[in-house]
Amino acid sequence: MTAAALFRLEGVSFAYDPARPVLRGADFRLHAGERVALVGPNGAGKTTLFHLMVGLLRPSAGTVEAFGAVRVREKDFHGVRLRAGLLFQDSDDQLFCPTVVEDVAFGPLNRGLAPRMARARALETLAALGLEGFADRVTHRLSGGEKRLVALATVLAMEPEVLLLDEPTNALDAATAERLTSVLESLPQAMVVIAHDEALLARITRRRVRLEAGRLVEG
Ligand SMILES: Nc1ncnc2c1ncn2[C@@H]1O[C@H](COP(=O)(O)OP(=O)(O)O)[C@@H](O)[C@H]1O
Ligand SMILES: [Mg+2]
Repeated sequence: MTAAALFRLEGVSFAYDPARPVLRGADFRLHAGERVALVGPNGAGKTTLFHLMVGLLRPSAGTVEAFGAVRVREKDFHGVRLRAGLLFQDSDDQLFCPTVVEDVAFGPLNRGLAPRMARARALETLAALGLEGFADRVTHRLSGGEKRLVALATVLAMEPEVLLLDEPTNALDAATAERLTSVLESLPQAMVVIAHDEALLARITRRRVRLEAGRLVEG
């Protein structure tokens, strides 16, 4: 037996529409320190798998274990979402406050940090991503690349142990993608990265799983 997995999915099945199952008994383990590429064609169910891991969706069969406990109900997943940060495929699903600093401070505030501390954490996180000066920008007016970086800031401000990154560099220009890639390279967390960009995956991941016909296969 190895040390407890950060995530352990066993036989996970899921369908939005019973006539078209997306996952059919998927097994997946993520251990501390691992950096895993999650690949598969469009519509394979990669985003769905992330949503099942953090409890935004519930499997119709199988178990989701995270941080050493089986998670079933909504309240079981509250702690999971504090410890596993999901970068949504669409930044507009992540950002909902009027200004950047409010979005980035939202998680820390929600977690119980005093407003002054939460703001300080937000500013620090923005600075670490090269987003000094963005604090008071209006979120919905940012460019796609800027939104992506701010969305990552909202995730990192929570200091998660695990990062689930859904197409982090998708639709970014080369310079922004490079900036984001070097940030991801430097992060210490275990991570699962959904991407189609082989160069990105080669730089930031060391293991690969492929979603095929509703199951995960290594390599
Ligand atoms: N909210 C939803 N309602 C119905 N079907 C959905 C929904 N979200 C995704 N799907 C379908 O489920 C399948 C898997 O989607 P998704 O997990 O987004 O795939 P991927 O991220 O691998 O491209 C696709 O066929 C998609 O059309
Ligand atoms: Mg997707």
